[in-house]
Amino acid sequence: MSDRPRILVTRKWPQAVERVLAERFDVVFNADDIPLSEAAIAEALARFDAVLPTVSDKLPPAVFAGAKVKILGNYGVGYNHIDIAAAKAVGIVVTNTPGVLTDCTADIAMTLLLSIARRAGEGEREVRNGNWTGWRPTHMIGTKVTGKTLGIIGFGRIGQAMAKRCHFGFDMEIVFQNRSKIDPALAARYGARQLDTVEEVLAGSDFVSLHCPGGGGNRHLIDAKRLSLMKPGAFLINTARGDVVDEQALVAALENGTIGGAGLDVYEAEPNVPEALRKLENVVLLPHLGSATEETRMAMGMKVVENVTAFFDGLEPPDRVA
Ligand code: DGY
Repeated sequence: MSDRPRILVTRKWPQAVERVLAERFDVVFNADDIPLSEAAIAEALARFDAVLPTVSDKLPPAVFAGAKVKILGNYGVGYNHIDIAAAKAVGIVVTNTPGVLTDCTADIAMTLLLSIARRAGEGEREVRNGNWTGWRPTHMIGTKVTGKTLGIIGFGRIGQAMAKRCHFGFDMEIVFQNRSKIDPALAARYGARQLDTVEEVLAGSDFVSLHCPGGGGNRHLIDAKRLSLMKPGAFLINTARGDVVDEQALVAALENGTIGGAGLDVYEAEPNVPEALRKLENVVLLPHLGSATEETRMAMGMKVVENVTAFFDGLEPPDRVA
């Protein structure tokens, strides 16, 4: 048996990153990319020195019962799938991958915003299904994006990248809500203004884009009551985490015309997307693609490599969250 740290990677990663991991550690990969059950994750936590999970894994308190693992190197910036308190309680270090997926996630939010406003999903389906009967002045009329107001919930890296795109690319006015006070000079760089409450942002925006973390106090942050505060024709964009939005309330709001539409990249019980949502035309649905570019997925993997390498070299991992 080698004396190198034993590592389990829970899903298939970009090949080049797996090669680097294999050079440095004694690694078990998931070549078939089949998601691990909670029981398999619990067993891995009891057997390996490091486990490298991602958003499709669930790590509730129960999986930590017999844990011997020293570090969880999460592949992803969001880590609400890991019970951080339980990991901390047994002295497990947790790291994530901030920074490297900022632009690509903001790009997907922008893709959703433009797609829902301009009915791109509906239009694509019409052409593909052979139902397009030709140009006409009243065909598939959407909503103009340029010059409208964007409301951002969560003004961290990704929220700011979204503000930048919308302000400089589409002359949009930007308002936002953030838990802590943002330096007005920083906000002004994106033509953005901080408001005191989520409610104020919802009421004043034509588009609302969510960029806050999931889990904890943010679960169902956008519920029926808050959806009812949005302008009737407004659009909700979610590239953050599915649980930030009460999905049932959103379906009702879309069905009743409480809001104009939604663009979603994340869902409450991925990969299950409620049929009621899939049936609606006023929603654009993507399969959690925020960070899905070759460059970003490589960079995320290399961040995990840096974190676990630092840890096993006795150094502080650069992206430690617990
Ligand atoms: C992230 O990094 O949080 C992405 O959503 C993928 O997990």
